[in-house]
Order: sequence, then C-alpha cells, then structure tokens
Amino acid sequence: MSNKAILEYDGKKYEFPVLIGTENEVAIDIEKLRGQSGIITLDPGFKNTGSCKSAITFLDGEKGILQYRGYTIEELSEKSSFIEVAFLLIFGELPTQVELEKFKKDIKKESMVSEEMKNILDGFPRSAHPMGVLSSLTSALTAFNPIPVNVNDPKAVYNAVCKIIGKFAVISAWAFRNSEGLPLNYSDNTVDYVENFMQLMFKIPTEKYVVSPAVVKAMDQLLILHEDHEQNCSTATVRVVGSSHAGLFASISAGVSALWGPLHGGANQAVIEMLEEIQNDGGDVEKFILKAKDPNDPFRLMGFGHRVYKNFDPRAKIIKKAADDVLESLGIEDPILDIAKHLEEVALKDEYFVSRKLYPNVDFYSGIIYRALGIPTGMFTVMFAVGRLPGWIAQWLEMREGKEPIGRPRQLYVGATKRPYVDIDKR
Ligand code: CMC
Repeated sequence: MSNKAILEYDGKKYEFPVLIGTENEVAIDIEKLRGQSGIITLDPGFKNTGSCKSAITFLDGEKGILQYRGYTIEELSEKSSFIEVAFLLIFGELPTQVELEKFKKDIKKESMVSEEMKNILDGFPRSAHPMGVLSSLTSALTAFNPIPVNVNDPKAVYNAVCKIIGKFAVISAWAFRNSEGLPLNYSDNTVDYVENFMQLMFKIPTEKYVVSPAVVKAMDQLLILHEDHEQNCSTATVRVVGSSHAGLFASISAGVSALWGPLHGGANQAVIEMLEEIQNDGGDVEKFILKAKDPNDPFRLMGFGHRVYKNFDPRAKIIKKAADDVLESLGIEDPILDIAKHLEEVALKDEYFVSRKLYPNVDFYSGIIYRALGIPTGMFTVMFAVGRLPGWIAQWLEMREGKEPIGRPRQLYVGATKRPYVDIDKR
C-alpha cells in the first residue's frame, strides 16, 4: 500500500501522506492541501470526509461490522450491560468488578436533580415534544453546574461523567412525565440504572411498580445497541460544538437537537407513524413501496437505508430478534410487527432498494419494542438519546483530550460577486 497520494492540478503536483487505521482503513491526509495549493475539497454531507481520528467505535458498512473499543456489538449486547459499556466507551477498557460497582454507585449518587429544574419543566406545555424538553433541560443543567469540566483533571472528568449519566435519566423521564401530565418520580437507588429509568418513567405513586427481568434485559440491550456509532450527525455535532470549548452539557444538548430529526434518531418515531399509516390505510404494503420509489413523492421508507451500512445494519438484526422475543414474553400480538416484516420482505426483493443497497436500519424494529413496553411514540427518540449519551460523552472527551482544533469547515462560494449598494428608491 502506497504511503503517499499525489494530486495534479494546473500543471503542478502535490503530495499528501496516506494514513492507515488499525482496521486497515485508508485516508489521505489533506491538512496541508489549502496551504500548499490554495485549493479546498468539497464534500457536502461529509460523505467521504473523515473529521477526526478516533479510537472509540469501528464500523464497516460493507461487512455490517460494529465494534466498540474492539468488542463486537453482538457480544456486548448479549453479555454486557448499559453501564458497563458506557465505562468501556468513555474510559477505553472494560471495568473490573470493583471499578464497575464504584461507577454504578457514583452514578447513583448523582441521580438527584435540582428542584428548581422543575420550574423550568413547568414552563413547557404538555404538548411540547419530549426531545425539545430534553434538549432544553440538558442545557439548563449547565446553570446548576456552572464550573466547566477541566479535561486535564481525570477526577473532574470522572465526576462530570457520573453527573451527566445520573441526571440524564431523570430529566429524560421527566420530559416523558410532563408530556403525559403525570407527577414526577425520584430515583430509586436500590435498583440498577435501567430498572431505575423504567421506574422513573412508569411508576404511579399509588401503585407498586413491578417490571419483569426480561423487559429490563430487552431495554438494556436496546440501550447498548444505541450507545455509539462513530461520526453520525449528532455525535459530529457534539464534537463540533465542544470544539469551541463549549461545556459538556451544552454540547450534549446540541447532540439531542441533532438526533431529533427524522433522518437521524427521529426515524424511530417516523417508522411507527408510517407503519400505523399503512395499517390505517388497509395494510397495502406494495402501495407504500411504490410511493417510496416515486421520485416525485417525498415519501421515504422510514427505517430503511443508511449512510454507512450498505449491506445490513448489525443492530437491526439483533433488534429484530429482540422484538420477537419481547412481544412473545409479554404475550403481545402486534399487527404492526407483521406489517414491518412484510415491508422488509418486499423491499429486500425490490430492484430499487437492492440496487441502492437500502436495508432496515436500527430504527426499523426498535419502535415496535418501545410500543410493546408502553412507551408513547413521541418518546422513542428520547430512548435513543438515553442510549447514545455515553457515546456522546466519550467522543466529546476524546476530542477535548486530543486538543482538536475548532471545527470550522470551508465552503465554495457561489453567490453574487462584488457589486455596489443600490439605494432603496432605485430597486
Ligand atoms: N426510502 C426510499 N428511498 C431511499 C431511502 C428510503 N428510506 N433512503 C435512501 N433512498 C434513496 C434516495 O432517494 C437516493 O435515490 P437516488 O439515487 O435515486 O436519488 C438513494 O437511495 C441514496 O439516498 P441518499 O439520501 O443519498 O443517502 P444518504 O446516505 O444521504 O442518506 C439516510 C441516508 C439514512 C438519511 C436515508 O437512507 C434516509 O433518509 N432513510 C430514511 C430515514 C432513516 O431511517 N433514518 C435513520 C438512519 S439510522 C439511525 C441513525 O443512526 O440515525
């Protein structure tokens, strides 16, 4: 493999180093391109542009591989837990038993949120989308924790990590309780993170809350599958916002907003809405496939396609099986699941989807599990955010500890050239 790349332009040759990643990915380092030649590269949507070097997550879109710190998603989702994987992502190695117990305990110590945060929540109407509420409350946490994290002090970093993980579950659940008009719950530190999160969401003050271990396991697995996904839209946002040295909570809040969009995390809500629409329309799957293929129809098959996966999304494979298991263990028959499976079957045989390498992604089946667990559609993307939080933290820290420069892309200007100002009476 050559260790340099040559660009020829206007009769001159420019040489650039070629970097090889640990999984043999190849990148041309164009850092000096503009300085040497005055030229920039243009890559809208960053389809070919690596924005950083990262040691956190590896994915191979052709082979359908996803690994956190070298461990496969299949193994982690089967054997590990959400908090253990959070430790792995953020600190780089799987924790020892002692480290894990301490991490869990320290997160629990942070599971109280200032009572004044309730005043902010009260300002939102019930109709507010929980993602908007979550983004605002995450940003509001900055007001109650005004000292920026000193990234050069491992203890301060550790404390900030525990703080945001501890409080994020609470404010996420509060966003849900607000939208349902239910009283807010406090954490129960006698149970683990995922079970506590479910209590925060669903416990009714007048009743004892009981949740089956199978449901807690399914939720834990879903959260693990969402924990990181290298430089996706929200993670890239967190890194860019943080690169201006904006604080951790402010950067995470920006990540929540980026995740909200239907082309990213918001797709899990859009999938269920689409499946319901198909059901209410009489269940004619082929009709919606035709709509998705029509270039004049803005309709897209939500939960299908991925910028990077061009073979299959390994998360979707695991979640599809989990959806079957959860529905069976809860004794639920959901016709939406049948529509989803039928849709997948038809799309996977259709030339349009095959030629464009469009496969079900992580969001295609996750909503079916959330629905079975009684989570309303508007909350689905919040569930994604709770899962993605450790990834955002890990990426933010990597960027700050690596002393990355401020994110500031270039552009190719195509607007009007210099012209004189025209007085208003002459326009
Ligand atoms: N339904 C119908 N056609 C599609 C779809 C779809 N879901 N996705 C892509 N296409 C077509 C698109 O119209 C284009 O066709 P043509 O070449 O004829 O113009 C071609 O496939 C390539 O699409 P693209 O939009 O250029 O691909 P992209 O890499 O920019 O977009 C995507 C990736 C995920 C935004 C897109 O596939 C999409 O909108 N999918 C639906 C939304 C969705 O499920 N998002 C969740 C992604 S996974 C969770 C996450 O990590 O965010």
